Amino acid sequence: MATERLISPQEARPEEEQANVALRPRSIDEYVGQADLIRRLQIAIKAATGRKEPTEHVLLHGPPGLGKTTLAHVIAKEMGTRLTITSGPALAKGTDLVAALTRLQPGDVLFIDEIHRLPVAVEEFIYPAMEDYRIDVTVDSGINARTVQITCKPFTLIGATTRAGLLSSPLRSRFGIVHHLQYYSGEELLQILSRSCRLLALEVADRGALELIASRSRGTPRIANRLLRRVRDFAQVESDGRVTSASVERALAIESIDRLGLDELDRAFLRTIGTVYSGGPVGLETIAATMNEDGGTLEDVVEPYLLQIGFLARTRRGRALTRAAAEHLGLPLSVAAATDPTLFGKEDAT
Ligand SMILES: Nc1ncnc2c1ncn2[C@@H]1O[C@H](COP(=O)(O)OP(=O)(O)O)[C@@H](O)[C@H]1O
Ligand SMILES: [Mg+2]
Repeated sequence: MATERLISPQEARPEEEQANVALRPRSIDEYVGQADLIRRLQIAIKAATGRKEPTEHVLLHGPPGLGKTTLAHVIAKEMGTRLTITSGPALAKGTDLVAALTRLQPGDVLFIDEIHRLPVAVEEFIYPAMEDYRIDVTVDSGINARTVQITCKPFTLIGATTRAGLLSSPLRSRFGIVHHLQYYSGEELLQILSRSCRLLALEVADRGALELIASRSRGTPRIANRLLRRVRDFAQVESDGRVTSASVERALAIESIDRLGLDELDRAFLRTIGTVYSGGPVGLETIAATMNEDGGTLEDVVEPYLLQIGFLARTRRGRALTRAAAEHLGLPLSVAAATDPTLFGKEDAT
């Protein structure tokens, strides 16, 4: 299992998370990119504050490392309220949710990470809480069973998920703002990297060095910052500590990250389709079993970027390699030519 890979956009060790927190934007104007979403949020927050109401509930979805947790902090700051953080798996029972909700002050933000992992039984409690700031709890059982209403303070729920498809539609429909976070452009990643260099007091010899890191970060701020830290270590040990294009090239070569930012796991995934399954189409679970990996991890962490750069086609009959991927891996083009996505008609939406 390659879950500890350098390029993984998922959070890793606690010291890694600490390093991330240090680089996390503090306010909405420090938040780079996602311009449409930021504009929507600013208007919604301003309007709600004017009415002295909490901001509408917000659902953020998209691949890990794109700034969902960061945004929850930034939104609470912009609203001038406190943020309480929990996650779907942490809310195992209805009473866990009741405890979290009754602790909120008026206008607070409750952030539920991995909201797709909220147990069904807990989900039912959350509907009246989201709509009427009310929780219906059943006490006693049998003929004595009755419902007691507990009220909580008006609050804003921010849900984050990498798997919007796994959310039930009643839950999804209770969010006023639903937004899919986009991968960041090279220019945006450069801005984030420059800011991180300032915060880390890191001297950059040439702008090209940061451009190199940006182009290998798979459009993901968390990866950009992580690569920057690897390069910093390398530059400190191998040279005078300044970040140069040469130090970036060499540091990333040691980590087996290629010029597109793909690592061993990405390449193994593509190669499995290309060689074991002659380019596909092949089902995700079959690929996962062959690689001895978890299908969910591949779907959340590996596939989105490969789809984004046009290396992978998701067809009705499974995953297929594209021509660009075959070229990149140096596989015979016949592997991809036969599996051109246009041959399969419309691509699956999910
Ligand atoms: N829009 C952004 N501008 C600047 N830095 C960002 C931005 N989004 C994310 N980051 C950086 O990436 C790290 C990971 O972001 P995070 O919010 O934890 O992602 P997610 O919750 O979506 O997995 C943050 O700690 C921060 O350093
Ligand atoms: Mg997060």
